Amino acid sequence: MIIAVDGPAASGKGTIARALAAHYKLPHLDTGLLYRAVGQTVLDRGGDPASALDAFEACDFADALLADPRLKLAAAGNAASVVSAHGSVRQALMDRQRAFAAQPGGAVLDGRDIGTVIAPDADAKLFVRATSAIRARRRYEELVRAGVATSFDRVLADIKARDLRDSTRAAAPLRQAEDAMLLDTSYMSIESAISRAIALVESRR
Ligand code: DC
Repeated sequence: MIIAVDGPAASGKGTIARALAAHYKLPHLDTGLLYRAVGQTVLDRGGDPASALDAFEACDFADALLADPRLKLAAAGNAASVVSAHGSVRQALMDRQRAFAAQPGGAVLDGRDIGTVIAPDADAKLFVRATSAIRARRRYEELVRAGVATSFDRVLADIKARDLRDSTRAAAPLRQAEDAMLLDTSYMSIESAISRAIALVESRR
């Protein structure tokens, strides 16, 4: 069984995808991490994420980088959002994602274009969303807990800028697949969002 989980930044898609993977005992791939690794590699090499050449060359990042805690920070997230608009970067990361999805027992992948481009034939597709103010609040609280100095307004501005970039780019923009089931987590606890996600996947089995 292939499960595709898409949605905007801080919607809860990562938490939901991990929980689904644990529930169904399937391997999980956070595809945002691949784009973050490319973005971070460009920054580490002193390049410009907006340059298609710098971004494409950074697709040769070392696998060990995927475990780097810096990938969780806003700098990597913003660079990821910029490099991910280049068609050449999306193409370079595609085989790896499709191979992961094609594992014999199935897999759970989360990202922006899993249900639309990477695994259009997925057995169950979820599109997870929440209002930008609620997503910014969650991300802000997470950063405060991690000891990162920031303000709510800054986090909200960041989220809005990423939403705009991710949904208006020409190459595989963020959008809900026609056959995806919508899960709005705005007013849900993590626990109820997870049980709802499992119920939605069950409805497609
Ligand atoms: O999910 P995330 O915040 O880790 O993703 C970081 C950026 O990577 C996001 O702003 C857009 C890009 N991305 C993408 O274009 N396609 C994906 N499947 C996953 C992430």
